[in-house]
Amino acid sequence: MTQEQWSQVDEYIVKLLVPSDDALEAALTASSEAGLPAINVAPNQGKFLSILASIQGATNILEIGTLGGYSTIWLARALPADGRLVTLELDPKHAGVARRNLARARVGELVSVRIGPALETLPRLAAEGLPPFDFVFIDADKQNIPEYFEWALKLTRVGGVIVVDNVVRKGAVIDPATTDVNVQGVRRFNELLAKTPRVSATTLQTVGSKGHDGFALIRVTSAV
Ligand code: SAH
Ligand code: DHB
Ligand code: MG
Repeated sequence: MTQEQWSQVDEYIVKLLVPSDDALEAALTASSEAGLPAINVAPNQGKFLSILASIQGATNILEIGTLGGYSTIWLARALPADGRLVTLELDPKHAGVARRNLARARVGELVSVRIGPALETLPRLAAEGLPPFDFVFIDADKQNIPEYFEWALKLTRVGGVIVVDNVVRKGAVIDPATTDVNVQGVRRFNELLAKTPRVSATTLQTVGSKGHDGFALIRVTSAV
């Protein structure tokens, strides 16, 4: 199969099952016009995340890696009216675009965009004593995925769900000699996940408009 076929099948699925709307379209247009890279999740992946968060009955969601807030809109739409979503973003320009996109999608009131390196904003978040999260989406820089996963574990309730994007990287993940720091981060994460006792986890490979990659799906099964 070729990338073109994967993209055509994604188009077919999205046309049938993932009708877009003005807010999602405007978020992508505004992100592109602001020069943000098009590394948001695909529409069918965004809806997949939203359905997962709904199944989970999530009321408190944490996202690490906001970009223009496209995945954030999908996740926020799974929340009840009194739900909360905190999303962490390094780049103030990305955060600004995201805040406007979230407001346009009418989920701005539910979402707090925190600016800074996530390894600095996560300890601050932990110190705030917020209720534990029931759903976490990790989708920032790939070098630090192991550290983000450790923070997610600390901040998530028993029964909580953690999803990690980009854990296959066109299959590069199986190369132990890789010199790509992103792939090294993913490999360190997979090794950490394999020896973490308090979780049940698996990974699904994906192909589609975003190429060949994958999601890790983790359920926190017991307390520390
Ligand atoms: N979740 C988004 C895509 C996120 S892209 C979506 O699917 O729509 C990854 C984002 O992580 C980028 O905006 C990048 O600026 C941000 N990022 C990179 N390093 C980071 C760090 N150390 N802390 C927080 N965010 C970071
Ligand atoms: C890339 C893709 C992503 O989904 C992401 O979160 C970061 C980077 C990429 O293709 O480079
Ligand atoms: Mg991603």
